[in-house]
Amino acid sequence: MAFLSGAVALWTAGTGRFLVPNVVTEPPRRFKVGYPSDYPPGRVETRFKEQHGVWVVHGECRGQSQIYALGTVCTHLGCITIWQESEGQFKCPCHGSGFYMDGINFEGPAPRPLERYAIRIADDGQLEIDRGRIFQEELGEWSDPDSFVVV
Ligand code: FES
Repeated sequence: MAFLSGAVALWTAGTGRFLVPNVVTEPPRRFKVGYPSDYPPGRVETRFKEQHGVWVVHGECRGQSQIYALGTVCTHLGCITIWQESEGQFKCPCHGSGFYMDGINFEGPAPRPLERYAIRIADDGQLEIDRGRIFQEELGEWSDPDSFVVV
């Protein structure tokens, strides 16, 4: 009898697993990352890497001081890059590609720069990133004013 009730309990637990929807929660596509004043020149903010896959950078691009959002995904085979503060560069741990602070690739097999996401100043004055819009340097899309905030 104990065997039978144990078997019933196992069957119920197994069946119950299929009655609960397998929900995957995605991070929001748009999110705020603070005010431009939170980003002094040369700053690479790493705290949005894990949840959003984004580096927020206050850097120089084409002689202009900009804040932009770089994707953390290496453009070679998709590994996640790391920020090397002491070297001032992003490095891919998989095959050694390197990217300058502006996202431009300079070594290793990565064929193109990191990608940018749309960024703007929201109504409350905070920087807002939209991961739904991607800008690629090699397509000339980094000149699109939606791919950076001038500071
Ligand atoms: S995936 Fe980054 S160098 Fe290969």
